[in-house]
Amino acid sequence: MAIDYSGMAFFFNKSERTLRRWENEKSEIFNMMLEQYSAQESKELNSNSTVIATVSLKGGVGKSTISDAFGFYLDDSIILNLDLAQPASQVNACPTIDYVEHIENKTVEEIIRELTQKYRYVIIDTPGDPTAEVLEALKYASKLIIPMTVGKRTRQATESTLHTFFGEGTALTGAYDVFFLFNAYTDKKKRDEAAALFKEAYEEFKPYAAVKLNPKLGALDASNAISTAEESGKSIFQMVQENRTAYATAAKKMTVLCNQIEEHFKLN
Ligand SMILES: Nc1ncnc2c1ncn2[C@@H]1O[C@H](COP(=O)(O)OP(=O)(O)OP(=O)(O)O)[C@@H](O)[C@H]1O
Ligand SMILES: [Mg+2]
Repeated sequence: MAIDYSGMAFFFNKSERTLRRWENEKSEIFNMMLEQYSAQESKELNSNSTVIATVSLKGGVGKSTISDAFGFYLDDSIILNLDLAQPASQVNACPTIDYVEHIENKTVEEIIRELTQKYRYVIIDTPGDPTAEVLEALKYASKLIIPMTVGKRTRQATESTLHTFFGEGTALTGAYDVFFLFNAYTDKKKRDEAAALFKEAYEEFKPYAAVKLNPKLGALDASNAISTAEESGKSIFQMVQENRTAYATAAKKMTVLCNQIEEHFKLN
């Protein structure tokens, strides 16, 4: 494959001459740059669609809940569920494709390219493991939602999520807007303490970040409405549409949250 020197020169803000010289004299650095540039190239989607991924290496923090709520809140959106063990198309309020049903005949890249041709927003819901599918999908995402719940373990898992996906040695490149979500907290004081500790941890991680992260912290209270709605296979928004007034408060809080995420991601 021919090397695109002029594209690389633009991408790295170096002259073509420098790059050609480095190719001979500093081939190790040049090859690393070429690899990074090629990864960036393949990530570009030929569409106006935005890919948003919900990730965390901790299970049960609310990835699927937030994916569905945010997808339902946005117009013209679809969820691609990469959790092979938990199909979601039958329960989600937002239209959802379970990758497990297409795994035999489509790669993650193909399916993302297809969906981004059809929908304004593609939300990728991921399992709690750094699977090959997740790593592939993250190449196409530019926005991330990382939920975390109460406790030290979740904080550690979130730190390890950052290091695993976005730290040194990652195959990912580029810039991501990140919305960290403290989910299902009942105690505001505890939540604020956790936020302070997490901010510290994030500052420590920053020098190791291999990609550009633009973070924002938000929170969502614990709510019985969310868990009971899920049990009936619906979203709180659907419950409200069906005039189940008990769900109105939870739906309102979820809307405020979705609005904050939308603003941070500059989707409106
Ligand atoms: N704010 C909340 N208040 C109450 N319950 C919640 C809240 N957020 C999520 N839940 C509940 O917590 C459980 C786990 O949430 P969810 O399935 O979204 O997590 P997940 O990160 O997708 O988990 P997994 O890693 O297994 O895919 C669900 O039963 C969900 O209804
Ligand atoms: Mg899930």
